[in-house]
Amino acid sequence: MQPFSKSNLISSSELSAQDIEFLFAAARSFSKDGPAPLLKGKTVVNFFLEDSTRTRLSFEVATRRLEGQILGFSASQSSIKKGESFLDTAKNILALKPQAIVLRHSSAGSPALLAQELKIPIVNAGDGFHEHPTQGLLDAFSLLEKWGTLKGKRVVIIGDILHSRVARSNIHVLRKCGASVAVCGPPSLLPPRLEALGVDFAYLPEPLLQSADAVMTLRIQFERQNKMTIPSLSEYRRFWGMTRERAQLLKKGAIILHPGPVNRGVELDPEVADGPHSIILDQVTNGVLIRMAVLAAVIQPKALELTLKERGAFA
Ligand code: CP
Repeated sequence: MQPFSKSNLISSSELSAQDIEFLFAAARSFSKDGPAPLLKGKTVVNFFLEDSTRTRLSFEVATRRLEGQILGFSASQSSIKKGESFLDTAKNILALKPQAIVLRHSSAGSPALLAQELKIPIVNAGDGFHEHPTQGLLDAFSLLEKWGTLKGKRVVIIGDILHSRVARSNIHVLRKCGASVAVCGPPSLLPPRLEALGVDFAYLPEPLLQSADAVMTLRIQFERQNKMTIPSLSEYRRFWGMTRERAQLLKKGAIILHPGPVNRGVELDPEVADGPHSIILDQVTNGVLIRMAVLAAVIQPKALELTLKERGAFA
């Protein structure tokens, strides 16, 4: 196995299959052998300029489990409200001498800009409709833990693909792990040039359901659209929602995922979200393991490698 090759995590498109394998080995070791004090004496800043429940809290839990300190940043209680710019705010955060910044921002490219301007590790926690790399990693890891391998598996992503950073990151990670991906959604919510992403697509779910080993449903990201691009939510549910009836078209044992937050009764019916094949809450639990792996890999790469070697998790 190769050690992690990056000093930041900006996008999953730039991760190699070896990088992903290393992060999964670290996450599995934290689950099986327990955490290690890899961030003792280190400070991580959760620089969130967009709302979040799962990502923000799991980076916080991940930092604490590795015995690091976490500093939370809330845009609504900050001097950004008095007109301070993004970069000035970031430079003031840097002056507090943290060892990494976890950034969520509504603009695609913000983490790359920060990585260029500040010479400390930057972890992208979601940038506009570009990428959400730790989500792609935790989703693929959750499936891997269920199946043992992703090779030859088929994952269908249904919903607002156009505005979804989660879809983009999942496509990159799943394909690098050997899975095939198909996407589906209303024509107004599918991006152009899907073939460049290496995925199949259909406008309606039915032709894709029988062959799916897992289905990920996505919410419609109204916060990234300035007009309604579907006729109504009830029509969305009727044609694209993972209803109980539509779930019955899936092969036996097919897994249901959702990155959250779920709009119950729109993209996913409650019976399916809470059903025996849903791993939605496993995704959240695994998110902590993946974020522990990512933070340790960018802040303490040598110590992480040594820990994994001592545990027999890195050969
Ligand atoms: N999946 C996800 O990014 O959820 P949050 O927006 O709650 O962090």
